[in-house]
Amino acid sequence: MFITFEGIEGTGKSTQCKLLKEYLESRGMEVLLTCEPGGSRIGAELRKMLLSTDNRDLTSLTELFLYLADRAQHISEIVRPALEEGKAVICDRFADSTVVYQGYGRGLDTKMLHHLNEVAVDGTWPELTLLLDLDVETGLKRAMTRNIQKGMTQKEGRFEAEHVSFHNRIREGYLTWAAVNQKRFKVADASGTPEQVFEQIKHFIEQRFFEENK
Ligand code: TYD
Repeated sequence: MFITFEGIEGTGKSTQCKLLKEYLESRGMEVLLTCEPGGSRIGAELRKMLLSTDNRDLTSLTELFLYLADRAQHISEIVRPALEEGKAVICDRFADSTVVYQGYGRGLDTKMLHHLNEVAVDGTWPELTLLLDLDVETGLKRAMTRNIQKGMTQKEGRFEAEHVSFHNRIREGYLTWAAVNQKRFKVADASGTPEQVFEQIKHFIEQRFFEENK
């Protein structure tokens, strides 16, 4: 079972990832919770490079290849072995982030991005992708509060520093891309409490993995 979470900043992806991990464990599954960028040792190095505000001179293409490098390493070293061991894998962001941020956000061709993703993931696609949808204003407010609570420095927030119009393109891009990939995507309304959002997630999980197999 391979499930990914997507959404703009501040939608509560990491909280929902943890709740889902606990839920699947309560159903007797072994679960690996991981993330992109930075889910592997090499990925952690790439993540620093990608998210540092010192690196504003990264071109869109360089940024793209670093995300793809992170994904190729993560899939082969972490995700695929876990799936082969029979674990459920939950990943906080995955290939769709590249189509949406580098495509709808930075303006690179989405078809080309999808093709490069296919090369990077080498056949290992999630069975279900959960898009947490939220308006940009609320998302950015939440992300800012979280960053302050974590004592995160300005340097780690390269994307948070982008204009609201960039984040609006990301939100719209996600909704468009989810509609194109309807079979794999489910969209949850992320404006409620963590419990309310998780109720929707649970419903999608039951529908996809447990009810269909009855
Ligand atoms: P992260 O801290 O994981 O963001 P969040 O807390 O919002 O989940 O930082 C990842 C950032 O990298 C996020 O702003 C989105 C961006 N990103 C891309 O642009 N392309 C990608 O392929 C991935 C995986 C992430």
